[in-house]
Amino acid sequence: MDCKKLLKKLTLKEKVMQITQLIPRMFDTDDTGALTGPIASLNISEEDLYNTGSVLNVYGAQKSISLQNRYLERNKHKIPMIIMQDVIHGYKTIYPIQLGLGASFNQEMVKECSSMAAKESSVDGVHLTFAPMVDLVRDARWGRVMESTGEDPYLNCVMSKAQVEGYQGDLGKYKVAGCVKHIAAYGASESGLDYNTVDMSERTLREYYLPAYKAAVDAGVEMVMTSFNTVEGIPSVGNKWLVDDVLRKEWGFNGVVISDFNAVRELITHGVAKDGKQAALMSINATTDIEMATTEYLQNVEQLIKEGKLSEKQIDDAVLRVLELKDKLGLFENPHKDTDVELAKEIVLCKEHRDLARKMAEESAVLLKNNGILPFNKNVKSVAVIGPHANTGNINGFWSYSADPKNTTTVLQGLKNYLGEDRVKYAFGCSAVLTDTDQSQIDEAVNLAKSCDAVILCVGEVETDSGEANSKSNIELTDLQYKLVERVVEANPNTAVALFTGRPLAIVKLNEIAPAILNMWMPGTEGGPALTNLMFGEVSPSGRLSMTFPASTGQCPIYYNHYNTGRPAPNREITYGYCASYIDGPTYPLYPFGYGLTYSEFEYSPVKLSSANMTIDGSITASVTVKNVGKRTAKEVVQMYIRDVYASVVRPVKELKGYKKIELAPNESQTVEFTITKEQLEFYGRDLVKRAEAGTFYVFIGKDSDVSEYAEFELV
Ligand code: BGC
Repeated sequence: MDCKKLLKKLTLKEKVMQITQLIPRMFDTDDTGALTGPIASLNISEEDLYNTGSVLNVYGAQKSISLQNRYLERNKHKIPMIIMQDVIHGYKTIYPIQLGLGASFNQEMVKECSSMAAKESSVDGVHLTFAPMVDLVRDARWGRVMESTGEDPYLNCVMSKAQVEGYQGDLGKYKVAGCVKHIAAYGASESGLDYNTVDMSERTLREYYLPAYKAAVDAGVEMVMTSFNTVEGIPSVGNKWLVDDVLRKEWGFNGVVISDFNAVRELITHGVAKDGKQAALMSINATTDIEMATTEYLQNVEQLIKEGKLSEKQIDDAVLRVLELKDKLGLFENPHKDTDVELAKEIVLCKEHRDLARKMAEESAVLLKNNGILPFNKNVKSVAVIGPHANTGNINGFWSYSADPKNTTTVLQGLKNYLGEDRVKYAFGCSAVLTDTDQSQIDEAVNLAKSCDAVILCVGEVETDSGEANSKSNIELTDLQYKLVERVVEANPNTAVALFTGRPLAIVKLNEIAPAILNMWMPGTEGGPALTNLMFGEVSPSGRLSMTFPASTGQCPIYYNHYNTGRPAPNREITYGYCASYIDGPTYPLYPFGYGLTYSEFEYSPVKLSSANMTIDGSITASVTVKNVGKRTAKEVVQMYIRDVYASVVRPVKELKGYKKIELAPNESQTVEFTITKEQLEFYGRDLVKRAEAGTFYVFIGKDSDVSEYAEFELV
């Protein structure tokens, strides 16, 4: 399609509608054109409606086809709409939440999962997904941590790229366009409160928060979504420096930028725009192309052009980007792209997809504690499965609207499939809902626990406790669930806890009382079978924490790659005495970033460097030999961290700069090598220029971010 030629045919109003995105409910008008209800509230005419450039969250192939057909019948230029949706961690086959994907440290599998989500959603009518979300997260109180791959910029970059590649591929058959979000730094909302202010130095922004968005841009992502929050005092949607200067000019992004839901209008609520007209002006000047869910562009652009505040060229640029995306998606040739009602029935939730979802859930689960009871022996005579997450399909996690929890294989079902109906008994115990206090079913669960050989106790958060608008001021397990855990463990010490959560929880007490804890996150459609395989040793747990688990809510935000301070706490004990420590509880987290156990033991040799010196354009190799000294085949995530010991600005105590996930049989060993070049040593100096400075560097290689073994070299 010659998009430039097409653009010339459009009136200004038609152009502005191309950069307006509406929800499908807007199209629920009758054919007599009685424009009451939703569209009246946006003050748009029926003609405008049928010029809308894109629509979000249409569910199902049939709906998608009929909406597009109805639209095209009325659209003068026959320009199809782009159908966009939040396909976040799966479409109907749900795989674990992104914190779990990060924890897998397995980018190949993450790519496969995104590719599977693209396939299911594309045949069911979706052209573009609002994913990946790559906001770096440090504060577990924020409900949206579940959508992110965690607190580390390096890991986030790897996973950002993997997801973009998986969704988009070459944008051909069974692929959807991606939309990286939310630029920028939405994950740094103050006090973990959703939609709250973000305020940070440009150095921190560039060093920690921006890289994962840039990684998506470098991987060719088609769209970028701005964040709700402020960046240097200006909400992102209207932030010209962020969107135009950094994203477009500095990074060379020339695709479509979309606002978040209602965010253009919210410039007024933020108090940086007097009215809708100013909000539209700010957003368009920032080069935010599409306005999502409101119509400030439509109401104001004409006037703004008349007044000389905007040029029509600015609108043309935005519209052209949208038309070109439609062209890339092949919508002009086939407005339904891959949508296929019959094929959708075959592909969605097919065995191959369920298998992948199960493997991903296995790969992302993190064994937090094990006193030796796990794995359970599969010859066990009877297993009690207890708890609010034991017999529910609601273990998919937030952002799984397209999925039906009825399609989830529950923990109870997973165990029955594996052990047979007779050996598995179930009791509810109590609910995980924050406000529930009903203890009436605990006794029954305790009695069941007593009567069985082993217990799997499924506790945690309900799936809607995390996700958008679900911030918490207390991230501990509920008192009610603690009552259940205490009594069940007392009744039967052969109890393993399975944790279901959308965020790190402060579970110091659980760590004390539970003999074993396996963190399943929100595992998705095949969570039950994955748990079964892990607990019975068919698979050794190999996930490692993508986000620090704090020892108390009060420690948030907490992350491993912090600066040292002039007075770091000297040890892990409660200390006071003029150092960076709390006087009423631990300063160190409960489980650090990168942490996770497995069913085997690994021994690391000391770190070896190929040279004690490195020149700025040279490279050195760091290596360790890792040996499986346990009794089972298992995977290990070998993690390399670097510390710049002194520099012109303070540097983090450690930064992940490489990892390798390896699998070793008992007694097997492998030498793992990492190449270090200046890229891994660079940082933003006082002048905000990125460079590496001469001096001493420590190279740590170990099993988690707490590793203390290192070798040192000089950058000369
Ligand atoms: C969220 C976005 C999402 C959009 C569309 C917003 O509330 O912040 O992440 O893509 O809604 O559903």
